[in-house]
Amino acid sequence: MRMHSADPKTLTPEIFQLFKTQNALLTAGDREGCNTMTIGWCQLGTLWNLPVCTVYVRPERYTYQFMESKDYFTVSVLPASEKETLRICGTQSGRDTDKIKTCGLTVCYGAGDAPFIEESELVLVCKKLYVQDLAPECVKDERIFRSYGAMGGWRRGYTGEVLEAYIIK
Ligand SMILES: Cc1cc2nc3c(=O)[nH]c(=O)nc-3n(C[C@H](O)[C@H](O)[C@H](O)COP(=O)(O)O)c2cc1C
Repeated sequence: MRMHSADPKTLTPEIFQLFKTQNALLTAGDREGCNTMTIGWCQLGTLWNLPVCTVYVRPERYTYQFMESKDYFTVSVLPASEKETLRICGTQSGRDTDKIKTCGLTVCYGAGDAPFIEESELVLVCKKLYVQDLAPECVKDERIFRSYGAMGGWRRGYTGEVLEAYIIK
C-alpha cells in the first residue's frame, strides 16, 4: 500500500465522476469506536473559500450517531472491484454487525483521529463546518419528491472542510 498525501485544492475535476461510477464509504468515530456505511450522495466544491465535501445521512443510520457526536468524518472511495464491500456496508447496519471486520477492512486515522479505510483509492478527511437538514418545504422541483415515500427519508447534510486528502495506489 502506497499512500500519497495530496493538497485537496489540487484534486482534479475527475473526482466528481467517482461518485457516479464508484460508491464510497462514509466513516465517523474515533480510535475508541467507529462505523462505516456506503454513500452514493457526496458533493465536492468550494464554500466560504474552503475546499468542502458534503454528505447526506438519514437519521436512522447507525452512522448518524457518530456524525452527530464527532467533529470529523471521512469519505473513502473504494476501487470499483469492491462491490461486495459496498453492498454489505450499504445493506447491513453497524448496530447488528461489525462491518469493518466482516469486510476485512483496515482502519487508519487522519486529522482529529478521524477513521478512514485503507483499502481505498481516494480518502478525504473532513472537519464539520455546517450541518443542515434537507426539508420538503425547500424543494423547487417535483422530481425531488420521487426519492421520498411515506417513510420520509429526509437526510441531514454535513458539510466539512477537506483537511486532508490521500491517494492510495
Ligand atoms: C449504493 C448505496 C448508496 C447509499 N447512499 C446513502 C446515502 O448517501 N445516505 C444514507 O443515509 N444512506 C445511504 N445508503 C444506505 C446505507 O448505506 C445503509 O442504510 C447502511 O446499512 C447504513 O448502515 P449503518 O446503520 O451502519 O449506518 C446507501 C446504500 C447504498 C447501497
